[in-house]
Amino acid sequence: MITIENITKSYGSGAAQNQVLKGISTTICDGDYVVILGASGSGKSTFLNVVSGLEKADGGSVKYDGKDITKLSDKALTKFRRDNIGFIFQQYYLLPNMTVEKNVRMGADLSGSRNYNEIIDAVGLSDKMKSYPSELSGGEQQRVSVARALAKNPKILFLDEPTGALDEDTGRQVLDYIGKLHEKLGFTVIMITHNQNIADMAKTVIRMNSGKITEVYENAQQKTAYEIGW
Ligand SMILES: Nc1ncnc2c1ncn2[C@@H]1O[C@H](COP(=O)(O)OP(=O)(O)OP(=O)(O)O)[C@@H](O)[C@H]1O
Ligand SMILES: [Mg+2]
Repeated sequence: MITIENITKSYGSGAAQNQVLKGISTTICDGDYVVILGASGSGKSTFLNVVSGLEKADGGSVKYDGKDITKLSDKALTKFRRDNIGFIFQQYYLLPNMTVEKNVRMGADLSGSRNYNEIIDAVGLSDKMKSYPSELSGGEQQRVSVARALAKNPKILFLDEPTGALDEDTGRQVLDYIGKLHEKLGFTVIMITHNQNIADMAKTVIRMNSGKITEVYENAQQKTAYEIGW
């Protein structure tokens, strides 16, 4: 379980100070599928980065099973992220001069806990193993980044607008793979999106507005990537 208590964060100082997170508290259960909604600039990415330990908060705590990661040294925090957390962003950040296989292996090699061939197969890319990123479609490249993130068997998968650069068809396909892998492997999903429809796939929906959580609700039923609107 992730217990988030009174997180605050500002950028800038003096008159230019911009308080981006204004005291955020919530809990996220293991295996949950969380979607975070909110207007542009409401602090979603900052919140995700603080919860995942990519960025430091000014105040508050983020506890994973009681262990407060805001108290860790940079070195310990890096190890924590490496051992526990996977990231997927709108951009794919694949290494252009490495094949699909090598890109995914990079993820697995960091902690070496999962058979990378299996995970490439699980995102439907077995036949693209030897291809380079430039030879793939956007949806295929994002599926490589899904495989790379999951290759190290993370407990939590953080996604910041994973379908932001994709059209409807490939967006649905990427979400379908993520949904199926979530079911099969049981990691926690915490995903930011602009697409309100994607919230119908979530178990828990968190709505943010200008640095605060304004609403948290649970869906009685979760839709699949092919059942939601777009
Ligand atoms: N590194 C930074 N330095 C200064 N200001 C920042 C920085 N990162 C974010 N901000 C500011 O913090 C606010 C919230 O940004 P954030 O990226 O968290 O919003 P968001 O909800 O993810 O928006 P979007 O939907 O557009 O991605 C914005 O006003 C932004 O300009
Ligand atoms: Mg953002």
